Amino acid sequence: MREITPRKIIEMKGRERIAMVTAYDYPSALIADRAGMDIIFIGDSLGMVVYGEENTLNVTMDQMVFHTRAVSRAVKRALVLADMPFGSYEIDTDDALRNAVRLIQAGADAVKIEGGYDHRKLVKKLVRMGIPVMGHTGLTPQRYLRLGGYRLMGETEEEIEEILRDAKALEKAGAFAVVIEFTLADVAKLVTEEVSIPTIGIGAGPYVDGQVLVWHDLLGIYENIPPFVKKYADIGGMIRLALENYREEVKNGAFPARDHYWEFLDKDDFRRKA
Ligand code: KIV
Ligand code: NA
Repeated sequence: MREITPRKIIEMKGRERIAMVTAYDYPSALIADRAGMDIIFIGDSLGMVVYGEENTLNVTMDQMVFHTRAVSRAVKRALVLADMPFGSYEIDTDDALRNAVRLIQAGADAVKIEGGYDHRKLVKKLVRMGIPVMGHTGLTPQRYLRLGGYRLMGETEEEIEEILRDAKALEKAGAFAVVIEFTLADVAKLVTEEVSIPTIGIGAGPYVDGQVLVWHDLLGIYENIPPFVKKYADIGGMIRLALENYREEVKNGAFPARDHYWEFLDKDDFRRKA
């Protein structure tokens, strides 16, 4: 079992802010775990940032299982959380339970579903069978078509009621935390005060119990970044520079140089690495 458990996440509320990041493959997850993240999350955002889709609606259970397996092999300390993709939990309860089991057996410690109130019975069943669940309210990207794209939520009384109702239903059903995505900060604050489980915000301001960002967004790997993201690095730019350098050195013959082929390699060093 990993060091960070759902119980520990719950205990962090009001004591220590929760740091969560997405990761989709082995080397990224290794770095995230070594960086001390509390939760490493295989989000269905992979449909967009890894597979280049316009939204998350085409992500399959197989994709989630493969990426969960890769991330799970790397993580020793953080809680590994896997998203349930669109269509994998809303249609049929037995199907939803089986799909959640697949993610757990791929190495996840918990699963996340979008919504709250509508899925309260499912959350209860998952928790009863021993699968920790995180909910997700505010902007729920799996409603992309109905919402007419991604937009700020919680501007009307009706939307605020809905968000609050989701969070309370999740708490009651036994979920260990809830993501609040892209709402006014005051709405996220209200929810955070009204429920005993931690709230983890993305584009929801500072008055929450933790924050989550998407790997490719925060690292600047990819150009299409939501407005609320802080870009902590320009890794995309670094990759491009490195590749341009490599291309240039192939073209001009600077690579491979003496250090890079057998006749001139440090043989002892080579054997140590092999
Ligand atoms: O899939 C995802 O990355 C998410 C986060 C943005 C919360 O659901
Ligand atoms: Na998601």
